[in-house]
Amino acid sequence: MPPKKCTDMRAIAITCSLLALSFAGAAGAAVAKPVRVVVCGACHGEDGKAKMPMYPNLAGQYRSYLEQALRAYRSGARKNPIMNAQAGGLTDADIQALALWYSSRPPALYTPSVSQPFTPSATVAGE
Ligand code: HEC
Repeated sequence: MPPKKCTDMRAIAITCSLLALSFAGAAGAAVAKPVRVVVCGACHGEDGKAKMPMYPNLAGQYRSYLEQALRAYRSGARKNPIMNAQAGGLTDADIQALALWYSSRPPALYTPSVSQPFTPSATVAGE
């Protein structure tokens, strides 16, 4: 039995380091900060923690949700005068970069980690 236990320990150690790596990826240490985030940051904070309670926190929100919200503001399907103006000039690449940035910031609120099948933005519903 001891050899088996030893193998188990190694498996656990490997699993733990893989988990640590994937959490590091989720925390987005390597995600490039989009230039446009400076504008968004006036209300939502550059780190996605809103400056005032009337603005939503974006940090740690699901990437697919952020993309969808920005596309809906841009198209006018979701109506809010501030955000319709903010999203109006965004390109698809801007939306992808901003969604990736904010989703990878450490959250101010708890967002459960569910497995989310991520749909590349070109095929997000509603477009
Ligand atoms: C002048 C303040 C302001 C600026 C600047 C701003 N926002 Fe917003 N944002 C808001 C407000 C207010 C809402 C809530 C609108 C609503 O009720 O739909 C919002 C909502 C959002 C949402 C939806 C959040 C949710 O939980 O559904 C996203 C995503 C978002 N903003 C992203 C951005 C991005 C990206 C930028 C920069 C391009 C930006 N915002 C710039 C004020 C701002």
